[in-house]
Amino acid sequence: MLIDTYGRIATDLRVSLTDRCNLRCTYCMPEEGLQWLAKPDLLTDDEIVRLVRIAVTTLGVTEVRFTGGEPLLRPGLVSIVGRCAALEPRPRLSLTTNGIGLARIAASLRDAGLDRVNVSLDTLRPDVFQTLSRRKRHTDVIEGLHAARDAGLTPVKINSVLMRGINDDEAPELLAWALEHAYQLRFIEQMPLDAQHGWQRKNMVTAEEILTKLSTRFTLTPEESSARGSAPAERWLVDGGPATVGVIASVTRPFCRACDRTRLTADGQVRNCLFAREESDLRTALRAGAADAEIAALWRAAMWGKKAGSGLDDPSFLQPQRPMSAIGG
Ligand code: GTP
Ligand code: 5AD
Ligand code: SF4
Repeated sequence: MLIDTYGRIATDLRVSLTDRCNLRCTYCMPEEGLQWLAKPDLLTDDEIVRLVRIAVTTLGVTEVRFTGGEPLLRPGLVSIVGRCAALEPRPRLSLTTNGIGLARIAASLRDAGLDRVNVSLDTLRPDVFQTLSRRKRHTDVIEGLHAARDAGLTPVKINSVLMRGINDDEAPELLAWALEHAYQLRFIEQMPLDAQHGWQRKNMVTAEEILTKLSTRFTLTPEESSARGSAPAERWLVDGGPATVGVIASVTRPFCRACDRTRLTADGQVRNCLFAREESDLRTALRAGAADAEIAALWRAAMWGKKAGSGLDDPSFLQPQRPMSAIGG
């Protein structure tokens, strides 16, 4: 079991498969990209599957989510999914992607055992997409979303980050579109995890503002709190339900007390929090021939040191050294 000193138990593992990405979202990374991890530093497919196996068979992990960077850029993705789906007990398997290339691979991922996907889509307007992500790939994302739904990778969730003056007028439109196409939309408050360290609280579109914008067109009623569990998204029934809209208010309404996450970076470091300033190295142990039990012990120790919260409200808050794209969101 992965337990911390506050009694939280981590059962949800997020595995970053690469720090690379084919978009350049302004809230994430600069135009020129970042200094990517070198190939020898990345965990191999075998190393990833071994760590997931240890997490699932001896540490109580029941949910595994593959993230990036952009996880569809990892050549071995389908095979990694298939090997993780064959583990006993079988973990639930999901993927968070920007959707580019998903149309081509959705059916193979489902056949390999992937259960569901979350896709980032911040705007319905191709020109705004290009401003936000600095790439002309809007159509690919929309096609990827539809393909995921048609392949049965459901519920397909959409993640939207609103940026003031860029796409924050689109909230009701995005929701109407998501409802029409049977996607579960969640708005995310922008977090200080961009590589450029340009985040400013005053520029962030807050959960409260998002709900106000949505209320101009929809009637929202809070979903029963018992339905939330450890999920980061707070959800509202739209016009009486059953459709919902979610808001992930990491900044203004943090959910750290219910956090059930542990993270593995593409270079084999355990992070006990998205905002952690320290990591625990599993790759060195792996490559030195450590037994499963030793690796499990390192992982337990890493989680035991998890802090109470993100520290975002502390005056001394410092962004983690790694940006979001290298942590895995
Ligand atoms: P579901 O199980 O489908 O609800 O997944 P999810 O919403 O946890 O995952 P996803 O990868 O889609 O992430 C959506 C947003 O939640 C991203 O902006 C993540 O960075 C954020 N998020 C995920 N886990 C955490 C966390 O532990 N803490 C904080 N603050 N944000 C998180
Ligand atoms: N703040 C909030 N969400 C972010 N994402 C990327 N960077 C940030 C940030 N600084 C979102 C992406 C994706 C999800 C995994 O995280 O848009 O949907
Ligand atoms: Fe790529 Fe995601 Fe960062 Fe956008 S937010 S540049 S899709 S890693």
